[in-house]
Amino acid sequence: MIRFATLTAAALVAMLATASAVSPAWAQGAQAPTKWELTKEQKDRATKAKNPVPADKRSASAESGKKIAMQNCAPCHGNSGKGDGPGAAALPKKPADWTSKTVQTEPDGSLFVKISDGNAPMPPWASLPEKDRWDLVNYIKTLGKKS
Ligand code: HEC
Repeated sequence: MIRFATLTAAALVAMLATASAVSPAWAQGAQAPTKWELTKEQKDRATKAKNPVPADKRSASAESGKKIAMQNCAPCHGNSGKGDGPGAAALPKKPADWTSKTVQTEPDGSLFVKISDGNAPMPPWASLPEKDRWDLVNYIKTLGKKS
């Protein structure tokens, strides 16, 4: 009996591992309460995506990013990026809190890929020009420093 239970648990773990390895990022979407992990292909892109905005232009970029965020992201992420926008309650998954340590310690390239690709119910934003997506990254990265 004990042996059977052990085998079953092991089989389950193996099954889950296989399932997450083969499903595309969007299919892992809605219910998974786990941390948003990038696929290998996304990680490769994230590593290559270097923030093109030089240090002395970051604050202007962040200003522009804030405007873009108010228009496109605030309904879910809230006006101050805490993940508490008016639409958040209706979602099966809570929008990320941009002020959190998780987001603030995430590499810029990784945020850029997440914003570009989305992960249901977070929509993809590849339709925004790359510059706008970097402005968003630079804006998000200002939110940990204040308060
Ligand atoms: C429809 C609601 C919705 C909108 C609009 C939306 N998001 Fe999200 N966002 C989410 C949800 C839900 C998550 C959590 C997804 C997950 O964990 O799989 C998320 C996660 C994120 C994350 C991931 C943080 C991390 O490190 O894991 C970033 C960055 C982000 N959103 C940025 C944006 C930006 C920038 C915009 C606007 C251009 C935006 N989002 C618009 C719902 C939304």
